[in-house]
Amino acid sequence: MKIAVIGTGYVGLVSGVCFSEIGNQVICVDNDPSKVDMLRNGEIPIYEPGLQALVKNNAAKGMLSFTTDIGKAVRNSEIIIIAVGTPSLPNGEANLSYIEQVAKEIGTVMVGYKIVVTKSTVPVGTNYKVKEWISELTDHSFDIVSIPEFLREGTAVKDTLFPDRVVIGIDNPRVIEPLLDLHRSLTDNIVITDIRSSEMIKYASNAFLATKISFINEIANICEKVGADVTKVAEGMGYDKRIGHSFLQAGIGYGGSCFPKDTEALIQIAGNVNYEFKLLKSVVEVNKDQRFNVIHKLESALGTLNGRRIGIWGLAFKPNTDDVRDAPAIDIIKALVKRGAYVQAYDPIATDNFRLALDGSEIKWSKSAMEAAEGCDAICLLTEWSEFAEIELTDLASVMKHPIMIDGRNVYGPKEIENSPFIYYSVGRPNLNTIDDDTHMASIIH
Ligand code: UDX
Repeated sequence: MKIAVIGTGYVGLVSGVCFSEIGNQVICVDNDPSKVDMLRNGEIPIYEPGLQALVKNNAAKGMLSFTTDIGKAVRNSEIIIIAVGTPSLPNGEANLSYIEQVAKEIGTVMVGYKIVVTKSTVPVGTNYKVKEWISELTDHSFDIVSIPEFLREGTAVKDTLFPDRVVIGIDNPRVIEPLLDLHRSLTDNIVITDIRSSEMIKYASNAFLATKISFINEIANICEKVGADVTKVAEGMGYDKRIGHSFLQAGIGYGGSCFPKDTEALIQIAGNVNYEFKLLKSVVEVNKDQRFNVIHKLESALGTLNGRRIGIWGLAFKPNTDDVRDAPAIDIIKALVKRGAYVQAYDPIATDNFRLALDGSEIKWSKSAMEAAEGCDAICLLTEWSEFAEIELTDLASVMKHPIMIDGRNVYGPKEIENSPFIYYSVGRPNLNTIDDDTHMASIIH
């Protein structure tokens, strides 16, 4: 099939590349000429394992191309996929201005029948707005379709080529066959539904996953107080098939470009029809608080943070990405700086993005994990990059002022900690080697 994908962000680029990989002729459109040039040269503007090789292979085969010319792309394609961003407005609602602009451009340039698919995450009813925006500007016939995207950063190629399911929201049965043809090779789990339900499936899925995370984080907080181990609690819960093991890793809360934005947007969507989504509001609140537990633990270990040197391991919102959007590290580092701490931070790949996100605060950017720990009163592990788990804790302690670790992702096991000099705070596991009285603390901290 001939497909145009508009927007070469995460969703657009990965979908376009993967559709070309399964044998379609794909043309990706972006209005940023420097991005298009980069892609034409086989370079990718995001960090995503496996993507660059697919871009190069499919471009070389003539199955994938890049352009700024939306008119050419739309006219030459049977299916047009809208994959532009829907960032949050200050009130939490999704900003639809990019979608509107693209829909109007499609309406202006299209010739002949087209299937217009929205892949961007959009509030319920938006596809009907897309229909209106396009119809106002064309007499040619077209159908609108909602096919939400469920890919995760870091595993985006695998998630797209081997999805758990494909959801197709339609308002005209004539699109079923071509869209089944397009997706049949990817999965047997294809859900065909109406457009509004399809739009809702995306929000409900992300909100549910966010709920699982906030739930296990609250269980972890209780575990800390009653002396239970949240990793065992999650393991024991997860064998119940109705619960499952995934998304029950306690930590410092979720971040990224989707969960924070989509949970806020769903609260707004509900609010707009006079429904208060109380559960989801609590999920969001728990998530905001969870980050600050790192600060509380540091204060419990060190007393004041003023003048303390704190090492930060991990700035990306999760491993295997350079994305720092809504990363817990942002709030945590701001809180440390506000309390007068000196921060030395290290991330394998996200430092440059983080620097931009933080507006040049007074932070020392380190080139290695060990360098970030040098002379520190404590080290905080905020992103579970695999290289952190490989560090020898005795070596680490030898470069620090005090061997204190706040492990926000439960990366280290009890054995490693017991055999190390570290005073160690985890999330929801019995704290190992933790200082339990002031006298002891005074003997360690000066
Ligand atoms: C998410 C959804 O998983 C994906 O389906 C959707 O299309 C986009 O949003 P992504 O944001 O890439 O994907 O990351 P994901 O792997 O889901 O993790 C999101 C956040 O939750 C991360 O900050 C991660 O650290 C956190 N998380 C995840 C936990 O704290 N505990 C867990 O058990 C799982």
